[in-house]
Amino acid sequence: MTSARDPHSFAKPDEVVVTHLHLDVTVNFETKQIAGTATLTLNNKSGSDKFFLDTRDLTIERVILGKGEPETHYSLGDAVSYLGQALTIDITPQTKDVTIVYHTNPNAAALQWLEPSQTAGGKKPFLFTQSQAILARTWVPCQDGPGVRMTYSARVKTRPDLMAVMSANNPTTKTADGVYEFSMPQPIPSYLLALAVGDLAFKSTGTRSGVYAEPSMVDKAAWELDDTEKMIKAAESLYGPYRWDRYDVIVLPPSFPFGGMENPRLTFATPTILAGDRSLVSLVAHELAHSWSGNLVTNATWNDFWLNEGFTVYFEHRIMEQVYGRTYAEMLAQLSMQDLQTAINDLGSTSPDTHLKLNLAGRDPDEGVSDIAYNKGYFFLRLMEETIGREPWDSFLKAYFEAFAFQATTTEIFVQYLREHLLHGDKDLEQTIKIDSWVYGPGLPENAPKVHSEEFAKVETQLNSWENGAPAATLATKDWTTHHWLHFIRNLPVNLSLQQMADLDRAFGFTKSGNSEILGAWFPHVIVHSYQQGYAALEKFLTGVGRRKFLKPLYTKLAETPDGLERARRIYRKARPGYHPVSYSTIDGILKWQEE
Ligand code: BES
Ligand code: ZN
Repeated sequence: MTSARDPHSFAKPDEVVVTHLHLDVTVNFETKQIAGTATLTLNNKSGSDKFFLDTRDLTIERVILGKGEPETHYSLGDAVSYLGQALTIDITPQTKDVTIVYHTNPNAAALQWLEPSQTAGGKKPFLFTQSQAILARTWVPCQDGPGVRMTYSARVKTRPDLMAVMSANNPTTKTADGVYEFSMPQPIPSYLLALAVGDLAFKSTGTRSGVYAEPSMVDKAAWELDDTEKMIKAAESLYGPYRWDRYDVIVLPPSFPFGGMENPRLTFATPTILAGDRSLVSLVAHELAHSWSGNLVTNATWNDFWLNEGFTVYFEHRIMEQVYGRTYAEMLAQLSMQDLQTAINDLGSTSPDTHLKLNLAGRDPDEGVSDIAYNKGYFFLRLMEETIGREPWDSFLKAYFEAFAFQATTTEIFVQYLREHLLHGDKDLEQTIKIDSWVYGPGLPENAPKVHSEEFAKVETQLNSWENGAPAATLATKDWTTHHWLHFIRNLPVNLSLQQMADLDRAFGFTKSGNSEILGAWFPHVIVHSYQQGYAALEKFLTGVGRRKFLKPLYTKLAETPDGLERARRIYRKARPGYHPVSYSTIDGILKWQEE
């Protein structure tokens, strides 16, 4: 086991570690509060008489030792912006359980309380949590670092017309009294604690998979995610059994700030994956892959974030290859390479933030993590696959997931394990791979794998003829998928005339696309070229969708000119109340927004 010091937690799990959490809470939509008790079961390894927890914006009412009786002394430390406050509790070496009576603040950063108007149904409110990276502490007092694991159980009471679901075993129908009981018998880190409450329905997509969504969306969601069971089978055939029993997906309202979040047993997903043609399901492959890389074998601190995300992108692409073929997977790989190059350009090719191993001490991990972890991580693992051969690499990876199951690992532990179990002191392999320059060095090492997508070559041919004057309507685009279009749009020349923009739009209908990825790629061109016909759709997108990955680049682009900044601020004033704290804290920074 590791005890790498976590720079983002006040907890001291080397002394006293939480092994189980029991939550007994009421979800109150009137006051926008979660209130009740968190009972923590302790393993006091050092016979300590103090116990440290993470909290942020929580109101602690009292703290009790054991399950019922004596109140104990506690204190809250000074607030440190994004880290919150240490909660220090007096215990004895014999204390087995500590019960904290508390409630959350209406502005808790993990929580988004939606008005009925922000849901598909329009009639009932909705609540969902987002705990990663260090937001669990805003709704549960806990040891909020990824290096600590606990099992959990919960009793959640809410309105009887709503259903509650968690990253645990879940109901499939509403109860009469609005009370739900949960248990998660596999130990998980706090960033995987999750809860959603709303007017939910369930539909099965396989023997151990299904979808939750608002009633009006559940059929569409089940259709879109029909291949989930195939993906689970593919994943298992690659890297060993699925260890979490069920795999369900909840499709949330559009303000969900991420594409997906790998909450165990229940991936949280944006409704923007429902493109109507199953073209965005690699997101499910990604979140499913986290059931191994991340949820089973977990980064010990956020500095090792690439162990979660880089492994997951690699695994995602392998699942996609197995289910949909190499041609499809190579398009994804080439898009990954573009994303990586953009990230390196944005950060600067010598920036320490382009190392796989990060140093996020003193920074909010939520702002510090970038595409580097995802795609440089992916290409590093792909380099090993290509250098060593797929078969030995796959057995190694499978053994790695087995060896570290339900544990945290650091970059150093992984590298050591790699050297011991795969490289076996082979100097040539070391020379070829250059582990240290990938892990501890900047930019993209020159031995990076080359990706060549035949499909994208076809796209480039069409793009060339368009640039040479062929009207958009005459291009050979008949069987193009979302990914072909993404490659096309991303590689449009930087300078376009308004006639050219209109020609593209007339032929291909980008502005009126219902596909969020296409819109996300197209709108930067709309902004840069002041393409008036695109503004209404841009505004609708920015006010309707809260996914940070789309919002951040669009607001950033808008903010580059005085006119754009004015437009951005006007839109943001309307849109901000509909965003999750994760998204509005990022956009506040970009627009230098002071709360009004
Ligand atoms: N775990 C991440 C989301 C995350 C990362 C939340 C860091 C908070 C802090 C999730 O698995 C993810 O990577 N989501 C991506 C989807 C993708 C790469 C297919 C997203 O939301 O865009
Ligand atoms: Zn991920």
